[in-house]
Amino acid sequence: MKRKRHSLMMKLVALLILWLVVIHFDALSSSSVNKNQLQCFFTAASFLPPRNLLGSEPQPPAAGAGVFIPTAKEKKKKKMGEGGIELLKAEEDKHGGVVVNVEVEDPIEPLNFSSWLQASISNWSQQGKKGVWIKLPIKHSNLVDTAVKAGFRYHHAEPDHLMLVYWIPHSPDTIPQNASHRVGIGAFVINNNREMLVVQETDGRFKGTGIWKMPTGTVNEGEDICAAAIREVKEETGIETEFVEILAFRQSHKSFFQKSDMFFVSMLRPLSFDIHSQASEIVASKWMSIEEYAAQSFVQEHDLFRFIAEICLSKLDGKYTGFSNLLTTTSSGKNTYLYFNGHDASNLVDSKNQQA
Ligand SMILES: *[C@@H]1O[C@H](CO)[C@@H](O)[C@H](O)[C@H]1NC(C)=O
Ligand SMILES: *[C@@H]1O[C@H](CO)[C@@H](O)[C@H](O)[C@H]1NC(C)=O
Ligand SMILES: *[C@@H]1O[C@H](CO)[C@@H](O)[C@H](O)[C@H]1NC(C)=O
Repeated sequence: MKRKRHSLMMKLVALLILWLVVIHFDALSSSSVNKNQLQCFFTAASFLPPRNLLGSEPQPPAAGAGVFIPTAKEKKKKKMGEGGIELLKAEEDKHGGVVVNVEVEDPIEPLNFSSWLQASISNWSQQGKKGVWIKLPIKHSNLVDTAVKAGFRYHHAEPDHLMLVYWIPHSPDTIPQNASHRVGIGAFVINNNREMLVVQETDGRFKGTGIWKMPTGTVNEGEDICAAAIREVKEETGIETEFVEILAFRQSHKSFFQKSDMFFVSMLRPLSFDIHSQASEIVASKWMSIEEYAAQSFVQEHDLFRFIAEICLSKLDGKYTGFSNLLTTTSSGKNTYLYFNGHDASNLVDSKNQQA
């Protein structure tokens, strides 16, 4: 009786082995199987993270580091890779890529992250995903090394996070460049007495030179040029203004951290006249006759400054038209300013207003 049961067990075990071999053979010999499927096949069999796509050997994860055999319930709850390794939560972008936003509050072990990342890359690769972005909050900066070892590179940084990117396909990457320009404004604020609002700065190249210049500053993220000009004038001199026109702009290269620089000379109309500056970067500010401003030797000696002063003067004399702003919307419905030559386009604007 005992013997009989034993041999039945042996038969069952043999059957099971045969069944496993057949399935595996099937998977291996199937002509449609690709390299990634094989990877996952082996992963499933051995519970190792998928092979690193950069070609390094798979690293067995340390005991208890993000690898576990999920119960059916857990499998439903979390996204699992074939190896029972948790996959990173990712959102698809519009360009065939994915974005991982590491939002976990608690610290993450690099080893856990490594196995999740590799399993996820394998999964995305199978799905034909291209660019993978990881937005890594500064509190998880300990994971940078892990991501870099998995093939990621820096794309850009913000005070509270680092953006890492990895291009999966073998084709040349089409990942957009990081920001290439800084945008600045210079404010030409002129009152009815042909007096221009000028400042002297605490620091920078004009420090201690006695040169009077127009208020300048940089445009904030999400800020319109016309709004930035108004804000900077207010901060530096306390003067309220309204935007009139962009008179000219210049582009220069290898400026701040090797980035290019766009600088928009904006004309503003003052709405108040009492100067009171609290800005720490400003030593002094005053109203100065525009002729006196233009006559400063620094302005005369430097082509760019002289030419800008001449543009401002011809604007005052009614011989020059700059770029007015028109609030409109992009194709995706966002507000946007269009800047255009208001003189030549006045008929267009009139017809637009009539339609409205
Ligand atoms: C790492 O993985 C192990 C095993 O799943 C788990 O017990 C541990 O909590 C994980 N650590 C972190 C920080 O997620
Ligand atoms: C990859 O993820 C998708 C979506 O979660 C899933 O349908 C697919 O089975 C996963 N593949 C692997 C190999 O885990
Ligand atoms: C950012 O873009 C510049 C080109 O504008 C490039 O030279 C630089 O390598 C890029 N930086 C990163 C971190 O990719």
